[in-house]
Amino acid sequence: VVQQVKVGFLGCGTVGSEAVRILRDRSDAIRRYTGVDLGVARVAVRDPGKDRDLPSDWLTTDAESVVADPEVAVVVELMGGLDPAGELVAAALRSGKPVVTANKELVSKRGGELLDLAEKANVDFLFEAAVGGGIPLIRPIAESLAGEDIRRVMGIVNGTTNYILTRMTEEGGSFDDILADAQRLGYAEADPSADVDGHDAAQKAAILASLAFGTRVHADDVFTEGIRGVSGEDIEMARRLGYVVKPLAVCEFVDGDEVSVRVHPAMLPDTHPLANVRLSMNAVFVEGTSAGEQMFYGAGAGGGPTAIAVVGDIVDAARNLVQGARGPHMSRPALHPVRDITRIDNEFYLRLEVVDRPGVLAALAGAFGDNGVSIKSLIQEGHGDDAEIVLVTHTCAESDMRETLVELASLDSVEEVAAVIRVLGEDE
Ligand SMILES: NC(=O)c1ccc[n+]([C@@H]2O[C@H](COP(=O)([O-])OP(=O)(O)OC[C@H]3O[C@@H](n4cnc5c(N)ncnc54)[C@H](OP(=O)(O)O)[C@@H]3O)[C@@H](O)[C@H]2O)c1
Repeated sequence: VVQQVKVGFLGCGTVGSEAVRILRDRSDAIRRYTGVDLGVARVAVRDPGKDRDLPSDWLTTDAESVVADPEVAVVVELMGGLDPAGELVAAALRSGKPVVTANKELVSKRGGELLDLAEKANVDFLFEAAVGGGIPLIRPIAESLAGEDIRRVMGIVNGTTNYILTRMTEEGGSFDDILADAQRLGYAEADPSADVDGHDAAQKAAILASLAFGTRVHADDVFTEGIRGVSGEDIEMARRLGYVVKPLAVCEFVDGDEVSVRVHPAMLPDTHPLANVRLSMNAVFVEGTSAGEQMFYGAGAGGGPTAIAVVGDIVDAARNLVQGARGPHMSRPALHPVRDITRIDNEFYLRLEVVDRPGVLAALAGAFGDNGVSIKSLIQEGHGDDAEIVLVTHTCAESDMRETLVELASLDSVEEVAAVIRVLGEDE
């Protein structure tokens, strides 16, 4: 028996307009595959005067009326931001309507509370599109890998920063020049801060960690370092050392009870699967004890890819609704504390500008030795004013590295600590 389910949209911009189009164009196929006849009932927007390919009687500026409309059985939130999206989503869930959203900010800051509301009302709160755009990721982690003991999730989850670092790597340009070009080409926003300073990736990392480890991580608990400090020199040096600099989100289960969730540029061995994820593509690499390594790859943003993930969720929510069922609960977290970055171990790449005279290496070795940090490899470059030392350490705690950096900065022979970049994917 084919069941009719009507959908109400809150927002119909880049993602929403594509999701509405797909629901209309693919309705026959969706009905054949799933047995659910999906239709759009209402669409809330801010500016009803905009030119849109929608029947005018669907449109309203009153988003609350869409949530309250008895004809609307599934609410799809694609307006973005916390306010008013958060209250609208909460109201929908409270009234027993499943909600689908792509809003990573909302999920990473109020997800726990909204999942609790969904659980209470026994309906779905689904957000496949919030991380990795069109890449199926949330459902595979929450459902297909439910039995897996996930140890680490490492991802390139921000297309803008991957695009910038890839072009810096392949063309040798500076951060500022490539950013300006990315803005001109539409790969970066006029205000690039959410991307280049890591906030967008931090929200996605919080969601990934919460799902992978069955806990709750708030976006504000994610250690976040952007890519503005990555120079062409370090990218070139990375290449010579066999590494690629990538914008990473890292979620790790540490010592059986805590999690580490962080976003920062990192050097990866050039043979690592994530090292070959280029330009604006996204990928998430999952390491588990039974299935081993898996990688999910695809377009992390854009109207089409993101809308595909949204429509997948709508189909799920609608099918569950007509069957009186619910998808994965995701709402009974174990609450693992987030470990402070100072207690996290990494290898580190350092580039030091040094004075060109005897005894420099001994002084440096002392600073590392005093803090229990051992050096894995070291290259001495240039002469006179251009003398540089580039080195990679063995694994050490962030706090020990910070102490080492303070001591290095105090040495007469060190003019500047020019770069510090974490190195992942080796020595484990
Ligand atoms: N774009 C992507 O590639 C992408 C990828 C992954 C996730 N997302 C997420 O998807 C969500 C939507 O992104 P988007 O790029 O589609 O945004 P967008 O193009 O700016 O669209 C936002 C929509 O919401 C409507 N809206 C905003 N405030 C409203 C209000 N107070 N009342 C009623 N309608 C309101 C806007 O109305 P008007 O049309 O009248 O302006 C517009 O239709 C965000 O959470 C974003 O983070 C986007």
